Parts: sequence; C-alpha cells; structure tokens
Amino acid sequence: MAESMNELKRTCRCTEVSEKNIGETVTLMGWVQKSRNKGGIIFTDLRDRSGIIQIIFETGDGDNFIDEEGFAKAEKLRSEFVIAVTGKIEKRGGAANDNLKTGSIEMRAHSIRILSESEVPPFPIEADSKTKEELRLKYRCLDLRRPDIQHNIMFRSEVTRSVRDFLYGEGFLEIETPILNKSTPEGARDYLVPSRIHPGTFYALPQSPQLFKQMLMCSGYDRYFQIAKCFRDEDLRADRQPEFTQIDMELSFVDIDDVIDVNERLIKKLFKDCLNVDVQIPMQRITWQEAMDRFGSDKPDVRFGMELTDVTDTVKDVDFVVFKSAIENGGTVRGINAKGQGEMPRKKIDALVEFAKGYGAKGLAYIAIQGDGTIKSSFAKFMTDDQMSALVKAMGGENGDLLLFAADRNKIVWAVLGALRCKIADDMGLLKKDDYRFLWVTEFPQFEWSDEEERFVAMHHPFTMPMEEDLPLLDTDLGKVRAKAYDCVLNGVELGGGSVRIHRGDIQEKMFKCLGIEHDEAYEKFGFLLDAFKYGVPPHAGLAFGLDRLVMLMVGADNIREVIAFPKVKDASDLMCECPSPVDEKQLEELCLKVVLPEKAREE
Ligand code: AMO
Ligand code: AMP
Repeated sequence: MAESMNELKRTCRCTEVSEKNIGETVTLMGWVQKSRNKGGIIFTDLRDRSGIIQIIFETGDGDNFIDEEGFAKAEKLRSEFVIAVTGKIEKRGGAANDNLKTGSIEMRAHSIRILSESEVPPFPIEADSKTKEELRLKYRCLDLRRPDIQHNIMFRSEVTRSVRDFLYGEGFLEIETPILNKSTPEGARDYLVPSRIHPGTFYALPQSPQLFKQMLMCSGYDRYFQIAKCFRDEDLRADRQPEFTQIDMELSFVDIDDVIDVNERLIKKLFKDCLNVDVQIPMQRITWQEAMDRFGSDKPDVRFGMELTDVTDTVKDVDFVVFKSAIENGGTVRGINAKGQGEMPRKKIDALVEFAKGYGAKGLAYIAIQGDGTIKSSFAKFMTDDQMSALVKAMGGENGDLLLFAADRNKIVWAVLGALRCKIADDMGLLKKDDYRFLWVTEFPQFEWSDEEERFVAMHHPFTMPMEEDLPLLDTDLGKVRAKAYDCVLNGVELGGGSVRIHRGDIQEKMFKCLGIEHDEAYEKFGFLLDAFKYGVPPHAGLAFGLDRLVMLMVGADNIREVIAFPKVKDASDLMCECPSPVDEKQLEELCLKVVLPEKAREE
C-alpha cells in the first residue's frame, strides 16, 4: 500500500549536517548512490542535490540499530532507489573520506522507507561522465542527477537571482512580452507558428523582444528588463542554441555610457555574488576598427597577445604573386607572431594551413625562425635578404618564433588570423578559463555589405542610431557610417550586445531608405513601432546578454548544452522528447496545411 508523506518529513538535505549535529536524529531523503552489504552491516551512500552522506544499517538493540524488517529493506537497496531514512548523526567509524563534504560523519539509521525502486540506469550517475552525449541527452532526467550538471543548473539559478536582485535594485521593471509575434528583423530565420483561426497566416516566435521593449519605452516604463526566451532558426555551434535566453533590458533618457555603466556594475555584482571574483570596472573599451586591426575579430580574446601586424607596406615590393595580387585587389598582408613556436614540425604547420583554409584563406605563408636563427619559409625564394630581415623586424620576430601571414581581402585576412591566434593560443595552453577578461567593442559599422543580397544590410538592426557625427555620411558613404552599438565580450565570446536606438522618425525613415526598405514595406513590417514613434518617443538604448553563454563561461563549460536543463543538439532536435516530430493529419487539416516534402526527404 502506498504510504503518504504526511507523517514523514525531511529535516534537511544530505550535506546540511556536519560534526556539529553529532548525536542529533534527522530524516534524510534522496537517491541511493551505491549500497554495499558487508554481512550484518550495510553501507549506503545517499545522494540529493546537496551531495552525499554515508548511511549505516546494522541490526541490534537500541537507538543505533535497525530492526530486522528495516534491515531486510536495506538489503534490497540498489543504485537510484529513492529512500527516506531516519537515524542519528555520528562521527564516522572508519577513516574519514576527504572527498565528501560529510566525510567525517555518517548516519546510523534506525528506520527506512523505500519511496520508489529503480531499474538499472543506462549509465552511472557520477561526475565527469564518459557517457556519450547522445545517451546523456536521451536520458536527460538521469543525466541531470549527475553532480557536475546539477552544479551548473543550480549555479544558473543563482545567476538569474543575482541579475534580478541587481536590476530590481536599479529601478528596472520586469515585464513579459509575447511569444507569438510578428517577425522581428534580427537577421536569423524565424520559427513560424501557423494560425488556426486565420488559416494561411503565421506567427513568428521572437528572435528577441527588441520591438516590444522599444514600445515599452514609448509607453513610459523607462527601465525594463526580462529574462527572455528567444528563438532563432540558425546553424548551431558550441555557443548557440535554437532557443536560448537573454537578459534583455532597455532604458530611457540615456546614452551609451549609461548603458555600459549599469551593465558593468551588473557584471561586477554577478561575478562577486556567484564566483567571488572581482571584476575591474570600468572595463576596457576598444572600437570595432581597433578590434579588427589588432585581433582580427569583433569579439577579441585578450587573455593573450599575438596581435596582428599589417605588413602590406613592408612587402609591397616583394615579388611574390600571392602578396602582390592581394594588394593589387585592394587587400592587405598581415601576420601574427607565434612566440617560441619556430621549431613547430612541418606537419603541424601544414595543419595550421588547413585550419586557415577553413576560414576562407587560399593559403598561409610562414617564416619559421629556428633557435639558431636559420629561416625556414614557404616564400623565402621570392625575397631578397633585405626584404626578409625587414619583414622579420616588422613582425618583431626573434630566434625561435613562427611568423604566419595571410594575404587577401581584409575580411578574410581578419577572419583567418583572428581564428588562428586563438587556436595557437589554445594549443599553447595560454587560455585559462578562470581568467575573465572583459571588454566593450564600440563604434561598430552601421552597415555591412551583403554579397548575397548585393546591398547594404544593418549590422546590428535597423533601429540602431548612427553616431551623430556620421549622420551626413548616410547621404554619401554608407560603408563609413559608424553605429552607436556596443558588444560586451568575454574571453573571445560575445556575451551581449546592444545599441542606442533611433528615436526620431525622420532618421528612422532615412535608415529604411538606406537599407532599401520602401516606406510601404517598413509600415507593413513595423508599422506599430513607426506609429508609436509619432506620439512622443524618449531617447532610449538597451542591451541583451546571452544568459546561457554567460553561465557557460562562468562555470567553465565548453558547450552551452552543459548549462541548459533540456538543450537541443546540432540539428536542432530534442533527443529526449524526440522532436520535431510529424503531427496528426487532423491537426494539419485544422490549420489548412499540407506537407509537401522534396523528393530527397521523401526517399529518406
Ligand atoms: P543579439 O542578437 O546580439 O542582440 O543577441 C544578444 C545576445 O544573445 C546571445 N545569443 C545567443 N545565445 C545562444 N544561442 C543563440 N542562438 C544566440 N543568439 C544570440 C548572445 C548575444 O550577444 N535585440 C538585440 C539586443 C539589443 O539591441 O538590445 C539582440 O538580440 O550572447
Ligand atoms: P603557392 O605559390 O600557391 O605554392 O603558395 C606559396 C605559399 O604561399 C604557400 O605556403 C601558401 O600556403 C601560401 N599562400 C597561398 N595563398 C596565400 C594567401 N592568400 N595568403 C597567405 N599565404 C598564401
């Protein structure tokens, strides 16, 4: 017969008792980690989300023993049984276990109730699991019992709490915005939801609450935040999920410095509260141009140097077709100096060349300066001795250094060297996870040329305000317009981004024109915002952090999936629920939808 929990109450969690509680009687509940029967005495490790304690079951007379019936129950215990045990906390009889928080104590049980039994789990519930991720995700409920994942999930909760505390303290209001939306223009593909009531029409899941938070500013809620679910149908990577969470905020009557200030203080408090790490503020700020020139990336990892050097001028007369043609086509030649890597085996250098090709390089030229000063280089034969020493000098090359060069359009040179410096630093073991280097990247370009669409597109979004001094360039040179946009970067990861918004109708109209969005089209897409803008708009600005990424970096995880309770995998499917999945014909009929698969999918 099932027993109720009315008379049986847990006193505390497994590791909330210590030597201070010796002699006290407590009731603990949790999962059996393991149970060993040593003949007449049973040792059981009991686990809950706080950790593990050792329980002893021994028959005999008196408080410290369990009766025959209880002992018989304890004999049945297997891993993952859920039990309640009542007993006395004692100093551990055997040697203390330093690996456990409760290693110096144990509980002598005098009663036990088995709350539920368990089949043998498909993998052991332990930290640092070697289990394949697919299996872990299929049985995520069990995976989530593992101590390292439990730490991440509980840590995430602490982070969220700390963020809320801070923002409430700063006068922000927490306001929810809809999930069923009209599409927002953030650049990624929308997830669509068909309407039953209006057949043939669709909602889009929000890529971010961008337009709503701007509306809220128009409505006078001058400081808004939300822990917001966002959805983007884009290719997934280690730090991307199709649904993810933003710490989203917007402020009225402010400019860049105000947004940066409040967010620096938020990060400082968060790292202090959750990691006891002191983040220095104000944080470093660099412009986008400087970030690209020095690091080849708009999210530079500044835990190490290995900065880019532009050697276009130094090599302009070198008779090496790779350099020559890049320069003739308006590109540049830039290099990085991997200090002390000059004797890297040829095989490894070849691997770097292949890596560079993955970022669009046609090749990678190198100068490997050996310890004794002799030079091995893929293009020495095209250089005079003077040219070679000028180039080595420009790169600050010394004996034992490896110099790597890319020659191409800037965009490719930056992408290649930006990625290469991070890879080499990683290979060299220069990347310490607990070395938190924040910086702000500012003055992003307003527009980005899209080869695909053959027009300028917004780099951030069409509501971002250009820098005031660049407004005249909207008529003359779109490529040069800088935006009042900023990203917060931590150790090479874009943690968050935002901008000052356009709050004047005339500038907004002009922006649409620059982006090739006609008046009617703009109205069709964002009419509600443009209408709102007619009736008094406060200057406003905002930002959104990726909560998942933030927690990932704080716990030192390599993958965003390790900090999300129920994540999706690379192909955007959920291995536990087995979705996406087909739906009933009837559901489709109600929605007036018909699935027409392309031939290939039909065959599969
Ligand atoms: P943005 O598109 O830069 O800005 O997004 C803000 C932050 O959200 C996180 N992020 C993601 N995290 C996980 N998976 C993803 N697929 C993903 N995409 C983005 C990143 C990113 O920095 N509305 C604007 C913000 C604003 O202007 O206020 C916006 O969404 O950490
Ligand atoms: P090749 O003449 O094509 O054999 O190239 C000579 C060297 O230049 C090789 O080491 C190539 O990897 C390198 N190389 C080729 N294209 C580029 C490029 N765009 N930038 C830098 N190095 C390159």
